Amino acid sequence: MATSTDVVFVDGVRTPFGRAGEKGMYWQTRADDLIVKAMIGLLERNPSLPKDRIDDVAVAATTQQGDQGLTLGRTTAILAGLPKTVPGYAIDRMCAGAMTSVTTTASAIGFGAYDVALAGGVEHMGRHPMGFNADPNPRFLSERMVSEDALNMGKTAERIHDRFPHLTKERADRYAMRSQQKVAAAYEAGRIQPDLVPVATRSESGWGLATKDEAPRPETTLEGLAGLKTPFRPHGRVTAGNSSGLNDGATVSLMASADAAKEFDLPVKMRLVTFAFAGVDPEIMGIGPVPSTEKALKKAGLSIEDIGLFELNEAFAVQVLAFLDHFGLDDDDPRVNEYGGAIAFGHPLASSGVRLMIQLARQFEEHPEVRYGLTAMCVGLGQGGTVIWENPHYNGKRRK
Ligand SMILES: CC(C)(COP(=O)(O)OP(=O)(O)OC[C@H]1O[C@@H](n2cnc3c(N)ncnc32)[C@H](O)[C@@H]1OP(=O)(O)O)[C@@H](O)C(=O)NCCC(=O)NCCS
Repeated sequence: MATSTDVVFVDGVRTPFGRAGEKGMYWQTRADDLIVKAMIGLLERNPSLPKDRIDDVAVAATTQQGDQGLTLGRTTAILAGLPKTVPGYAIDRMCAGAMTSVTTTASAIGFGAYDVALAGGVEHMGRHPMGFNADPNPRFLSERMVSEDALNMGKTAERIHDRFPHLTKERADRYAMRSQQKVAAAYEAGRIQPDLVPVATRSESGWGLATKDEAPRPETTLEGLAGLKTPFRPHGRVTAGNSSGLNDGATVSLMASADAAKEFDLPVKMRLVTFAFAGVDPEIMGIGPVPSTEKALKKAGLSIEDIGLFELNEAFAVQVLAFLDHFGLDDDDPRVNEYGGAIAFGHPLASSGVRLMIQLARQFEEHPEVRYGLTAMCVGLGQGGTVIWENPHYNGKRRK
């Protein structure tokens, strides 16, 4: 008889994120090879896990075509050398793909059907540009279910600026500059590198090795940001500098029941408290994490004050500012994105959810005074996702 059981995040790793396009480091690397590389890296650093005890492999991608198609969880399990007895499947919730891989496998573990699962995501936006070959139903527009802006993420961010005029471009630019600075500081302090799996790359000049993210621009200044074009609207506020970019990368996590973690002598980096997804108007998709966070907090019986660390995906600076503003948090609250965010790291859509979790897990280690943290992100066509986690290193000194 299956019963509800504790679910834990054992470990997570990712590839360094590249810049999408011909000049990017993964231009000649297949999408499935990125996730395979991450999976092998994760299994190598958890050697006590018997591979035949993995109950399932969930891998997300937004554009499930070509080297991102063909039921990624299954193909990559075989390519990563897992026993053929281990099944796998593919997931899509656009930007929250990897987050959904985690919550879906976690649900199976919590129900008692699974003991251990791999959950992750990949997006090679160079080989699979956003929306490529998409065929949205014409009724969306002809029946005015959504406006045309809803299908362009940058335009949805401009709409958030419209709705909340006090979230100015200057605030968005300042937030973006801080994100770049925090990523540089986190690299400097060696916080990011331990969870990166190096990837062999190929270019016209020969073989190389990707060991760090390609997109960060530590030299970013407010003056530089102020002068950038606003590609989504003439005289708009959203720029290449205060948005996440177009990137390639893969992430993967190892999820388990608390009992299985003990049985296989695996570390426990975070305990899952609860999660929620919510829908909002697609034209302002960036505010999605507000209702998903409210829903998750309510389920958990917690309030925003109980959350000591936040890992928010920075699809756009204004979208994070709308979240902070709603919950009464300062633009530069030290609990938020301590290592910086997607504006600097990049946002390979369906992979990003697990990057947030990897970073939160590392911050939990460094902050035993924090009890709860959350990872949250917005999703195209108007959704938000939030996962609340408990810190296993919590020392009870301060109830947060
Ligand atoms: C905004 C966007 C259109 C920009 O694309 P792009 O033009 O290819 O971006 P680039 O990296 O070439 O940057 C454009 C310019 O800004 C400059 N720039 C970018 N970031 C900068 C920074 N932090 N400081 C100074 N300059 C910067 C670049 O140097 C470049 O300058 P150039 O034109 O003189 O070469 C693209 O990144 C985008 O669509 N982002 C959103 C992705 C998205 O929607 N994701 C899903 C979220 S839900």
